[in-house]
Amino acid sequence: MAEKFYITTPIYYANAKPHLGHAFTAVYADVLARWQKIQRKDVFFTVGTDEHGAKIAKAAEKAGREPQNFVDEIAGEYKKTWQALNIQYNDFIRTTSGKHKEGVLAFIKKIHEAGDIYEGVYEGLYCVECENFVLERNLKNGLCPDHLIAPKKVKEKNHFFNLKKYLPLVKEKITSGELKITSESRKNEILSIIEAGVPDFSITRGNVKWGIPFPYDKKQTIYVWADALANYITVLDFPDGENYKNFWPADMHIIGADINKFHSIFWPAMLMSAGLPLPKNIFVHGLFTINGQKMSKTLGNIIDPVDIVNKFGADGARYLTLSQFPAGEHGDVKAQGFINKYNSDLANGVGNLFERSLAMMIDYEGGVVDKKSKLDEKIKKQADEVEKSYGKHMDAFQLFEALGDVFSFIKTLDRYINEEQPWVLNKNKNEKLDVVLSTLLFGIEKIIVWLEPFMPSKMREAKDYIAKMQKGELNKKEKLNLFPRIS
Ligand code: MSP
Repeated sequence: MAEKFYITTPIYYANAKPHLGHAFTAVYADVLARWQKIQRKDVFFTVGTDEHGAKIAKAAEKAGREPQNFVDEIAGEYKKTWQALNIQYNDFIRTTSGKHKEGVLAFIKKIHEAGDIYEGVYEGLYCVECENFVLERNLKNGLCPDHLIAPKKVKEKNHFFNLKKYLPLVKEKITSGELKITSESRKNEILSIIEAGVPDFSITRGNVKWGIPFPYDKKQTIYVWADALANYITVLDFPDGENYKNFWPADMHIIGADINKFHSIFWPAMLMSAGLPLPKNIFVHGLFTINGQKMSKTLGNIIDPVDIVNKFGADGARYLTLSQFPAGEHGDVKAQGFINKYNSDLANGVGNLFERSLAMMIDYEGGVVDKKSKLDEKIKKQADEVEKSYGKHMDAFQLFEALGDVFSFIKTLDRYINEEQPWVLNKNKNEKLDVVLSTLLFGIEKIIVWLEPFMPSKMREAKDYIAKMQKGELNKKEKLNLFPRIS
């Protein structure tokens, strides 16, 4: 039986339609899911929307809508965007669905039965956009640094989760590597938060109506983060579903750095309390900023991924989101640079290499290139090296670096053409032409395989074109136009 691989994205708040930051996580996960499938794993890949809590209720009210009706529309926007970006998920979980609510109640019951929920009074500052209490010392001029709004003072009766009991255990799981947090610096960040001490968090809310009622005190609702984190098991039909049995624990949760604490501290602690296995790897990526500020729906400084798809195509948009900077880092998005990046890497890079090489094959040999012909040893050796490095990067979830490998090989092939000048070899009827064209076809087919998880539709198109070419079914006029130049 194939080894399983369960990969998740965060479930995004259904308070507004998705922006490029959300698309980044979704595309990242989609590429990794496709790569794992290519490795013959039995992959389960989930996405979804986080639809409860004060933040959503506030957004619905502002729009003058009933919360359910409001989140229905936003969930639809997410689905449309993921479709536009060709995100091939297995399930889309909505936290207002019956299946999710049932799973959350089963999960909370286990934590309650473990005796880890107690009543108390919470007093502190609350940022509704973070859906979390914030500490005075972390504010910037009295404002939440991510959302630039003043948190509210609250004091209320809540039911608390006994986080303190689990902190040493969480720490041990992280230091022993049983729970991996990628990268090292994100892991250290969490260890120092644990070191500094994290107070118990309230797992219910008394003043929030838009949520799942807490079964042990019906005047309270379940805290939206507890509700949301449980999606990773409810989507698998926890507690009795086949998918739960087959796929939990998750092999990978992909998240942004903004929600690391919830995933690397709260979530494992709640799972341990419920007696459930922990996820294996939490992969934390950096955030896109625009002019140094986090791209955020609340701030309104967003790029709509559908606009990028409309301009650059699904595969162009996928490439542009992933090729900005290595995933671990925060970085400023240069949307004005998208056209240049697309033209230089895709139109003039991959597209041009494929088009001019294949055109020569059709022109000089009717497209029927002899694949058994000897290959250029130097190029073959370089391809092997690139393949190794690419595989290593893909296995380490380093997509930016894997793309770097492929693009270095594209440059190698470009140089090879310029050095060998197949048009001169053809004119002189030089026998070496066969070797050069076979080597080019070999190289292009490698690139197609490597780029397939990133740009599946375009690579399919190239593959189909080559298959037709090799049957001699193409004429000079039928050109491949993979990435048309954009101005
Ligand atoms: N609903 C919670 C997550 C619950 S998961 C159990 C939430 N939602 S969110 O809509 O704010 O999305 C958070 C995630 O979206 C981030 O962790 C990240 O993966 C992605 N991004 C949101 N803004 C982003 C950027 N500006 N840049 C990159 N990714 C971003 O938090």
